[in-house]
Amino acid sequence: MKISKVVVIGSGTMGSGIAAQVANAGLQVYLLDLTTEIATKACERIKKSRPPLLMEEDNFKHIIPGSIENDMETIKDADWVVEAVVERIDIKKTLYSRIDKLRKPGALVSSNTSSIPLKVLTEDMSQEMKEVFCITHFFNPVRYMRLLELVIGSQNDKEKINDLVNFGDKTLGKTVVVCNDSPGFLGNRVGVYAMQVAMTEAFNFGLTVEEADAVFGRPLGIPKTGIFGLYDLIGIDLMADVLKSFIKELPTSDPFHIVGKELPIINQLIADGYTGRKGKGGFFRMNKTSDVKILESLNYQNNTYHESKKVDLGLPDVMDVMNVIKRDDVYGKYAWSIMKKTILYASSLVPDVTENFNDIDDAMKCGFNWSKGPFEILNEIGIENFVSKLNQDEEIPSFIKQLIDQKNSLFRTTDNDLEYFHPQQSYMPMKRADGIISLSDIKKASKPIYTNASASIWEMSGKSKFICVEFHTKANALDGLTNDCLMKAYDLCNDKYDGIVIANDAMQFSAGVNLNYFYDRAVNKEFKDIDIFLNNFQQSLYQLQHAKFPVVSCPSGLAIGGGYEVISQTSFIAAHSNSVLGLVESLVGLIPAGGGCKEMLRRWANHSDIKNDPKQLALKVFNLIGYATTADSPIKAKAQQFLGEQDIMVMSKDRLIEEADKIIFSNKENYSSLDSATFSLPGSTVMSDMMDILYELKDKKVIGEHGIEVGKKLGYMLSGGNTTPSTILTEQNLYDLEREIFIDLISQKPTQQRIRHTLDTGKPLFN
Ligand code: NAI
Repeated sequence: MKISKVVVIGSGTMGSGIAAQVANAGLQVYLLDLTTEIATKACERIKKSRPPLLMEEDNFKHIIPGSIENDMETIKDADWVVEAVVERIDIKKTLYSRIDKLRKPGALVSSNTSSIPLKVLTEDMSQEMKEVFCITHFFNPVRYMRLLELVIGSQNDKEKINDLVNFGDKTLGKTVVVCNDSPGFLGNRVGVYAMQVAMTEAFNFGLTVEEADAVFGRPLGIPKTGIFGLYDLIGIDLMADVLKSFIKELPTSDPFHIVGKELPIINQLIADGYTGRKGKGGFFRMNKTSDVKILESLNYQNNTYHESKKVDLGLPDVMDVMNVIKRDDVYGKYAWSIMKKTILYASSLVPDVTENFNDIDDAMKCGFNWSKGPFEILNEIGIENFVSKLNQDEEIPSFIKQLIDQKNSLFRTTDNDLEYFHPQQSYMPMKRADGIISLSDIKKASKPIYTNASASIWEMSGKSKFICVEFHTKANALDGLTNDCLMKAYDLCNDKYDGIVIANDAMQFSAGVNLNYFYDRAVNKEFKDIDIFLNNFQQSLYQLQHAKFPVVSCPSGLAIGGGYEVISQTSFIAAHSNSVLGLVESLVGLIPAGGGCKEMLRRWANHSDIKNDPKQLALKVFNLIGYATTADSPIKAKAQQFLGEQDIMVMSKDRLIEEADKIIFSNKENYSSLDSATFSLPGSTVMSDMMDILYELKDKKVIGEHGIEVGKKLGYMLSGGNTTPSTILTEQNLYDLEREIFIDLISQKPTQQRIRHTLDTGKPLFN
């Protein structure tokens, strides 16, 4: 059955998020609440949400607010009704009986409950409704969290439920994990357990909240909110409720009871109104009593706050579990304890809660944004090594015992196909939903054909045979080695493959060129090195843009600054629906110099707004780059020409490489490389208009003294430098100009101060 009309009941946090995502998919959705007024207010919140729940404002037109008193009839022709009202069984059940009377035969119905078992929700339902009823457990915020757990039971009509699985995957862009009806399903069961271990062990080891978050964060492949920051984000009171529900549902023998107990410190915080970011603060708080805001953190031992300090524990910047757990100090012990307990707990759920341990990995990656799941981490540690590090008295789950006894590994490859260990069937082929080409699976099954510390190249195939360039630095910042990898890919592809894909499975595609690299060279006045770096960067991207084979880039998350320059100089972009694209160099007092200025001029040159007027062209791009404009969805990116006609938006991050493969395949036979562009730019005649804009911004205090300088240099660049409209400029001319101005700016102290400030605080400096 094709799902084309959806009704969401309950317009709170989750209902409005689900409705917005359905609207993003271009489908009509009714959003009902107790009254139309409540639902209408929810719609207003959707409109104003930050980060935005809608991919473009126009999607708002698909959402129709209503009430359960006046608009239940809308259910009559709905293909899917999803309930997301308060977590109260009585309220939910009353709604289900009303839905059952109205729904058309075969229509799917689901609940977004996070804690009520499916068997309880369905106990009074008609047999027909039971067949089509399941739990669809989305994560908040719905647009951005990839996980959708679909909880089913034996009574379900598998074929119908499969329609919902497909809809969640292909239309809503979620990673759908089908789960059994067990408490917390998979994501929260393991994720909340890991959180509780991280918190209770931090208390046991006597770590400060900053220390704990520094360990249980990036070095372990976990978001930088760590544990205490995450508690504040979720809400300390909400977490307490979640724990209560687990304690009620899980048998007393479950290790969750050890770490999920009520803690006096948590009760105290809630009683005092310190419920996290939504309250007065929590483990962290913003002290606004003085003129400046100061971030403070809690000393949980004496319940006082002090100024929060960034701690340097000598831990790696990027995920490096092996080296962290090897450390002999308290931080290494803390990390090992969390990882060990989480892996043991996750293993204890196989096979009773899930037969496929990969589902737990997916749930942790997509529901908690871990870079790797517990079993992928176990695979990295090695099973024997893991077991040898355990204490004598530690109970080893039967799943791990089975692996050791049979001398098996978690994964194996046969004829290049990846298989995973199944407790009952020995090995099973790793099956992804049809069509998905998973980089993380390829990484388990093979070795890269080229690798260095910053990037790797993987051989892949789908409809076509291609290679995939993967960046793997912190935030995928670009450096000399990522560039070497791009050049290597070009050489490798030239005769052997159908094309190149540039993709990775990290949160950010690339946050730009490594600013530390530029900063260090700049303060040491090594400008020649910067010039060589930029020139190499430009040349390798030029090569890819004009290659005789297609190159497809697949941004997801941030692709900004140098990250955008990479994708903008590929033949096609298959962009994930949540990608953020743009050129932000002006914030650090620089201009794009990896071809970004050249590329934006090329992209806007033929746009109807420009009317072939070089002056209009220079001004348009001046505003775009000068304001460090970014687009937070591919739809908005198209309007800014960050994406072109040939580029596509892909709802599911899992399906990016599949789409890239299709593009390569369809261009395999008759691909003609992109011609070199030429430019006609206005020269100095446009400078006075640009200076007017800059002085007005200065008067309004939007920019400072150095803002004028950066703007002036950007203007000089985009007007083509010392040129006239009748002079034809080449791409190389513009590359040269970009480097010249970049080096001029980076040699100036105020730009260096901006870079330093951004590196230290993550924020731009106003100067
Ligand atoms: P919420 O409190 O933000 O919103 C609940 C909405 O339901 C309110 O707008 C309320 O007016 C409405 N409502 C109450 N009774 C109703 C009725 N009889 N008919 C229609 N609307 C009614 O709750 P939230 O957070 O959106 O949670 C909704 C469901 O999603 C719950 O089952 C919760 O367990 C689950 N959930 C929540 C997550 C979260 O992070 N907030 C995550 C995953 C699941």
